[in-house]
Amino acid sequence: MTKESYLVRFGVAMDSSLLERFDAFVAERGTATNRSEAVRDLVRQALIDSEVVEDDNEVVGTITMVFNHHTSDLGDKLDAVQHNHFNEIISTMHVHLDAHNCLEVIVLKGKKSVVSSIADVLLGTKGVKHGKLVVTTTGENLN
Ligand code: NI
Repeated sequence: MTKESYLVRFGVAMDSSLLERFDAFVAERGTATNRSEAVRDLVRQALIDSEVVEDDNEVVGTITMVFNHHTSDLGDKLDAVQHNHFNEIISTMHVHLDAHNCLEVIVLKGKKSVVSSIADVLLGTKGVKHGKLVVTTTGENLN
């Protein structure tokens, strides 16, 4: 059942110096044109952050990692991990950064716990220089 959504106004009490910093933040971002839109963005982000903390929730994510393909059989190892998780891994982009280094961006979807463990295995593989997992959700019901 979808609840009807409408705009509600509410007052917020805030320390003047905090509000000044917030206004500067809003002006700097440029994307949100006013306080209301900026507050809505922050609330949505907070809700997404809290939602993706739940291990059973479905999330989408990207793993970005850099590695040296000359390191033993690293490329094969990383490929094997990805083949083991073909259900979760939607797409992989491989970029040859220079003669030695590769960048891979992997897009995945699945339970938060599974997505996190795939990232842990890939990023923990010896020879992966650095990398990061970023997770998000479709944010439905976060209008
Ligand atoms: Ni490469």
